[in-house]
Amino acid sequence: MLLPKTHTLYLAPFQGITTQVFREIFTRHFPGTDKLFTAFFTGINNEKSLRSRRKELEKTSHNGVPVIPQILSKDAGEILLFGKLCHNMGFSEINWNLGCPFPRVARKMRGSGLLPYPEKIMEILETVFPSLPIKLSVKCRLGYHNADEIMALLPVFNKFPLSEIIVHARLGEQMYKGNVDTDTFRKVLQQSMHEMVYNGDIFSPADFEDITQQFPQLNYWMIGRGLLADPFLPGQLKGIPIPEPPLGVIRKYVDDLYYTYRKAFNDSLRTINVMKEFWSYLSLSFDRPERVFGKIKKCTSFDAYEDAVNFALNNYTWQGNGGKKIK
Ligand SMILES: Cc1cc2nc3c(=O)[nH]c(=O)nc-3n(C[C@H](O)[C@H](O)[C@H](O)COP(=O)(O)O)c2cc1C
Repeated sequence: MLLPKTHTLYLAPFQGITTQVFREIFTRHFPGTDKLFTAFFTGINNEKSLRSRRKELEKTSHNGVPVIPQILSKDAGEILLFGKLCHNMGFSEINWNLGCPFPRVARKMRGSGLLPYPEKIMEILETVFPSLPIKLSVKCRLGYHNADEIMALLPVFNKFPLSEIIVHARLGEQMYKGNVDTDTFRKVLQQSMHEMVYNGDIFSPADFEDITQQFPQLNYWMIGRGLLADPFLPGQLKGIPIPEPPLGVIRKYVDDLYYTYRKAFNDSLRTINVMKEFWSYLSLSFDRPERVFGKIKKCTSFDAYEDAVNFALNNYTWQGNGGKKIK
């Protein structure tokens, strides 16, 4: 009998959410994730510029799951410096963000704003690779304006020993709207000589089944919003049963996250803002998401937050995301 195929699952980076605290607590409570990414670093001109975010790079793995630091840059020197610093801290790979869609980033030819310029990307990779002491992977979209851009870029990527290419199968201009373009992703797979990772709109086991059937040759998948909404998802995709009752685990998870942030932020109310961002996704797995999030969103004190969370956990039912499209 053939053994079921084992899939490798990555947690997508989210600025402001998938922090070092989150990565530690998430992997403590939920099985199934094989790789973690930091949100992007930028403005790395010297070792000192890491100072305020050095904590983000304190651990090269969380509960046995490796961390890949990510850089957003169009400057070969900056990528090299970041690679060297990460290498010295014990990391084995860095990831180059060519996917960020935000206009203030893209307008400056960074993130997905660099995708229409394959010659510039070539120049950067030519400068970086000879001196880089660490593996380099890329996370990109299909293009900024149109999907021809990735097709022009693949011959460039093919010239360099990138460790893998993660593709969020949308255009930069789309931001997070509209559908993923699996037809173009199929063409990308045919043209690329690298290990490829699919990313985009995997929200449920049914979505995963659908995408793995479309791409049976792929082994690597990155999941973002689906996993923030339903942290049981990676385990489920690997056949690990959801513990009963699920809300027992969710309660421990959200409490652990909340108290660890309070400690990390010296009891500052910043904790509430981070938890609100986090609950904007997690609430989607309850039977009444708008009620759950509505109450938490209004909180301005620790007492109010704790009451709102207790109310949600005592009065609403955990359903899992169940395939709803997340915006
Ligand atoms: C609020 C927010 C912050 C994000 N921050 C980053 C980031 O720092 N680096 C990155 O490569 N992608 C970032 N992303 C993109 C996600 O990693 C992921 O590619 C995207 O959500 C698509 O995957 P999904 O459909 O599984 O959510 C961010 C997305 C959102 C919505």
